[in-house]
Amino acid sequence: MEKINYGTSQTNYSRLIAGCMRWGTWGANLDTSGFQKNISRCLELGITSFDHADIYGGYSTEKDFGDALKGMNLNRDDFQIITKCGIQMPCDNKSDFYIKCYEATKEYIVQCVEDILVNLGLEKIDMLLFHRPSPLMNVHEIAEAFTSLKRSGKVDDFGVSNFTPIQFDALNNLFPLCTNQLEISVMHRDFFFDDVHFYQSKNIAIQAWSPLAGGILFDESQKNETVERLKNLNKKYNWDMSEMAMQFLWHHSCKISPVLGTANMDRIKQTLNHLNNRITNQQWFEIWTEAQGFEVP
Ligand SMILES: NC(=O)c1ccc[n+]([C@@H]2O[C@H](COP(=O)([O-])OP(=O)(O)OC[C@H]3O[C@@H](n4cnc5c(N)ncnc54)[C@H](OP(=O)(O)O)[C@@H]3O)[C@@H](O)[C@H]2O)c1
Repeated sequence: MEKINYGTSQTNYSRLIAGCMRWGTWGANLDTSGFQKNISRCLELGITSFDHADIYGGYSTEKDFGDALKGMNLNRDDFQIITKCGIQMPCDNKSDFYIKCYEATKEYIVQCVEDILVNLGLEKIDMLLFHRPSPLMNVHEIAEAFTSLKRSGKVDDFGVSNFTPIQFDALNNLFPLCTNQLEISVMHRDFFFDDVHFYQSKNIAIQAWSPLAGGILFDESQKNETVERLKNLNKKYNWDMSEMAMQFLWHHSCKISPVLGTANMDRIKQTLNHLNNRITNQQWFEIWTEAQGFEVP
């Protein structure tokens, strides 16, 4: 598996990232042994980077993952934890949150990291992302929080998620960010119009969440016109949906890192097999054309 270095980071992350949002109560509901099997299988496949957020599973999935790690005796240098904070989500575990909102104070960010470390049972997070931009956020304060967490050794690398280029620059001017994790897929293509070149010029590697459009590509009940057009193209090349969608991201020279959402390891293995193949620029534009529904000008 190809490795990615973000900016000046000393850490090697796997280019494919295992997204853990659906491993716990928000999806597969794996028990501790299920988490352990998935973690081991990912590592065997060379997928060493795991994506979390404090809110996943209603603030329960990081604890499930941490409980699994406790019984595994892994070398800490053999895997990387990417996680996020900044969203406050009402749920059984958080009785103080009565409305979904964002919080970006230094005190809150630092406390989130303390809680995440306890839940994961670790001393350090490899990469912390501020989950979503808030209209109320003060980028100076986020930078202060990141500086303090870096100094304390509790977090190695820092980035953001769902930020626009202007928001990214506002914070990056104060504290060097290593990535922006964005929704990018054959069904969500905004990134490819302008933003891609903004990040490319800064040598910022981008992570793509919901690279298979969160499963919409496979949902037969929806009869989505774009999906139907893509299916016809797949027949021409004998691709399956996930192969086409992953090749669409993998082909780009800016080296997008997909954050895969499945908890099904056979599907992850199949994705890896697909990535041994390469598509041409013309094939990429065939996918683009079918996704847009019209030819480029
Ligand atoms: N930064 C953010 O704001 C943000 C937001 C959302 C998510 N994320 C991260 O991104 C990760 C991925 O998100 P996602 O789960 O929406 O990603 P995704 O990979 O686009 O979608 C995963 C969904 O597709 C289904 N699927 C995958 N392959 C399939 C196949 N061959 N046939 C049928 N169904 C298939 C999966 O079902 P099975 O599980 O049954 O395979 C699962 O329900 C999350 O785990 C999380 O780490 C980040």
